[in-house]
Amino acid sequence: MSWLPATLGDRVRSFSESPIMWDKKAKKKIGDRELKPESLMMSYGYRPEWSEMAVKAPIFATSTFVFNTAEEGKAFFAKAYGLADADENLETGLIYSRLNNPSLEILEDRLTLWDKAESAAVFESGMAAISTSALTFLRPGDLVVFSEPSYGGTEYLFHEILPQFDIQVECFRSSGGEAALRDVLEEGDNKDRLRMIYVETPSNPTNDVVDIEACSRVSREFSTDDRKVLLAVDNTFLGPVFQHPLKHGADLVIYSLTKYVGGHSDLIAGAVLGDKELVDAVKGTRTFLGNIPGPFTGFLLMRSLETLKVRMVQEMENAKLLAEFLTQHPNVARVSYLGLLKEGDSDYEIFQRHCTGSGSMIAFEVVGGEPEAFRFLNNLKLIKLAVSLGGTESLAEHPGAMTHSDIPAEDQVKIGITPNMVRISVGVEDPDDLIADVGQALDRI
Ligand SMILES: Cc1ncc(COP(=O)(O)O)c(C=O)c1O
Repeated sequence: MSWLPATLGDRVRSFSESPIMWDKKAKKKIGDRELKPESLMMSYGYRPEWSEMAVKAPIFATSTFVFNTAEEGKAFFAKAYGLADADENLETGLIYSRLNNPSLEILEDRLTLWDKAESAAVFESGMAAISTSALTFLRPGDLVVFSEPSYGGTEYLFHEILPQFDIQVECFRSSGGEAALRDVLEEGDNKDRLRMIYVETPSNPTNDVVDIEACSRVSREFSTDDRKVLLAVDNTFLGPVFQHPLKHGADLVIYSLTKYVGGHSDLIAGAVLGDKELVDAVKGTRTFLGNIPGPFTGFLLMRSLETLKVRMVQEMENAKLLAEFLTQHPNVARVSYLGLLKEGDSDYEIFQRHCTGSGSMIAFEVVGGEPEAFRFLNNLKLIKLAVSLGGTESLAEHPGAMTHSDIPAEDQVKIGITPNMVRISVGVEDPDDLIADVGQALDRI
């Protein structure tokens, strides 16, 4: 953390100058034992000495920060704006909360732990994280290839907005795997302009899994000395607890923190993680788009991170039971849940290689069409009919008519989104209560 000298003055400065206290790596260990992220979520990146011994990091509700001297202000700006006279050894100091803020820097430090990322940047929303990454790395004439289906907002950004900036966009079907990705690149005449492969895995809403390692191989193959092809992975559905794309060759990991990390359906936020050089470039764009969150969002996210693993594990256990129940119900035609994958299923091997848990997103098709799916949704009593996911409460929605309604109906079917499909994000309620609710609503369709 670079912000200490400007917070509590000389009393605290003596702590900041102790190299042992500053050594973040040392803070991650007890002797030789590497501490787990869930053990570090309550303390990492913050020391009570910084704020009157408060056990929790306070909310730094301030728009601007005092410089000790004009020289210090000049040095901070030179560093933040990458000016020629910037001091390489200086960490970016606190300047103004559109650039950085302690409540967000501590959060970013904690977010790096699950994915073992060098750096993280937080945003006002998941879409802000995605669009800011796109604007940072894509230029007119560049090609981006992305996996379908992806979240409806992402699809809209890629299909409708990026082409307006002369960025070429192609897509491949998630379920088609590496072969589908290579086909798209071979068929086009612009593969030498490939700049980014973007995958959402598991995909929203169908739960298809994409082979991140295979995409990384392709991105390396198409990279040249002066043009690196970046692999960006939206890890919202399983991360950061059950899947770690950087380990499998991704360059950037993207999150809607609105979902599992926020976890209580009470905030909107996003993040980008990766090597410092890439994340610094994204932070540079963030400064001028002005889409960093406020400190209160940072506080809420840190509070949520403390319980992230227990929530995600409990939600997964509930989802396994509910998915199993759905497979038995006569009014259910098909269930897509990662925990139901069996040896021999096309996604099974990728799931085993990439994921440490099956998460809590279930997509299933009722017997019938849209009217039957709507009847199911309208009859739910405990589970709420709402979009979004990853919260403590279970939510159900109709992807075709809601989250993915921007995609024309005929294209929806091609990418596996059918009129009789319902998506459920399973929460922490009692699993038998959830089963009772789903059962009675299914009986009424
Ligand atoms: C997989 C995925 N990525 C990104 C987003 C966008 O996130 P936000 O709503 O926080 O902008 C969503 C939203 O539903 C999502 O489901």
